[in-house]
Amino acid sequence: MKSGPGTVSVIGLGYVGLCTAAAFASRGFKTVGIDIDVKRIEQIQHGRAPLYEPRLDGMLKRAVRKKLLVPTSDISQAASTHSIFLTVGTPSRNDGSIDLTYIETAAEELGRALRQKQSYSLVIVKSTVIPGTTNKTVKPILAKSSSKTIGVDLGLCSNPEFLKEGTAIVDALHPDKIIIGSDDKKSASKLKQLYTRFYGKNLPPIILTSPETAELVKYASNAFLATKVSFINTIANIAQAIPGVDVNHVAEAIGRDPRIGPLFLKAGPGYGGSCFHKDLQALINFSGELGYSPILLKATEETNEQQAEKVVELVEKLTGPLEKKRIAVLGLAFKKGTDDVREAASLRVVRLLLKKGARILAYDPLAVPNARKSLGESVEFAKDERSALNAADCCVVMTEWNQFRELQTKDYLGLMRAPNLVDARRLYDPKEYGAMNFAAVGLGPTRNDF
Ligand code: UDX
Ligand code: UDX
Repeated sequence: MKSGPGTVSVIGLGYVGLCTAAAFASRGFKTVGIDIDVKRIEQIQHGRAPLYEPRLDGMLKRAVRKKLLVPTSDISQAASTHSIFLTVGTPSRNDGSIDLTYIETAAEELGRALRQKQSYSLVIVKSTVIPGTTNKTVKPILAKSSSKTIGVDLGLCSNPEFLKEGTAIVDALHPDKIIIGSDDKKSASKLKQLYTRFYGKNLPPIILTSPETAELVKYASNAFLATKVSFINTIANIAQAIPGVDVNHVAEAIGRDPRIGPLFLKAGPGYGGSCFHKDLQALINFSGELGYSPILLKATEETNEQQAEKVVELVEKLTGPLEKKRIAVLGLAFKKGTDDVREAASLRVVRLLLKKGARILAYDPLAVPNARKSLGESVEFAKDERSALNAADCCVVMTEWNQFRELQTKDYLGLMRAPNLVDARRLYDPKEYGAMNFAAVGLGPTRNDF
């Protein structure tokens, strides 16, 4: 492969890397996808995604067949491409701080692979990393192992992503902005050219800034979204104690104010997913190292942790003591459209229910295999939602899957031992569930109950 500007490598084929690689290949870029996990590479070579993401399987199959995507575990192949994205994971250590080991190893090996290369290439840090990482960690490692001068023979940019699981491909093809952080004009302009080539006349607004600012943008974005969720959950918990109040109506009303906006105001069991908790913890930790204690961000996390208890309180309110009660849990994924259970609120709720002696029968259309890895034999997994409801003392809806929306009062009443339903996702119209003992996050008691 000639390393012209239409050639790209992506190192680390997790959610972000794989979707990024698939997006480039789908637009005709010759793309090398690199991962240390040989099994993962074999799967991708057969055109199969090792994770669930709508559209991804089809895109991978086409890209591999047309040889536009070359999956490999050999990092030296990155040298045959012009632009090289680092998308390896950046997990949390036990104290919440960011673990940069994968970034460091990948930068070191990549530098070595580029040592003999004569022509210019551009390295782009897309993994979420704390401010200063591109300049203070990646840059010296790359410079040493490649023996090149960064900014002259080898470009370096920070370029965070904002992909959401479940819509990652659409997000990659239609982002609302592109952030390019670089200290040298050549690197920034090369990356801008790559994106101009990719998006053509649909090029989104590009924000050029320093690497440190670009790195902070990603954390600020996730911290703000998580705070919005914890904010509405706080209002939900207040609303829940006021007869006649529904947090959904509060959210709809305040969301009309353009200063607030309607999105990310859905009250629920608390946020999950691989990013919010990890990134908030990393930002809190990093901020602490700078000598500043970000109390707002700590409260966002604490509120989120507590939200699981609020859901369990609703269950207890309907069922009484949980010892030996049979609880149906509908939904395990951290949101609909994914098989991912990382940091899912369902896991926190299930663990609390188990601690209180409940027996759990859980169902999720996609996430059971992943949930089984976390919960093991402590819960029973049902083959569908109806089997989960069978003889249950209470059902709690934890993920907003569309198929759960179709369950009506008669289904619940016909299958369950007791007609107790907790809607932790506000999937149902309370008016239609009047025949049941119905409780929901952010829904105050009816005035008669008061
Ligand atoms: C990504 C970003 O990298 C992370 O910083 C951001 O916060 C969220 O999105 P994700 O795509 O979810 O993370 O990563 P993950 O699913 O953990 O996958 C990382 C991949 O990198 C794995 O397939 C792993 O095998 C691979 N890897 C890791 C390498 O190829 N080389 C390494 O040295 C380490
Ligand atoms: C998030 C960011 O949105 C994305 O930009 C970043 O790159 C990675 O992290 P993701 O984790 O895929 O994406 O999920 P997202 O759709 O943001 O939802 C996160 C959590 O918040 C989910 O558990 C979701 O159910 C919850 N949520 C979201 C709410 O409880 N209420 C809302 O109104 C919105």
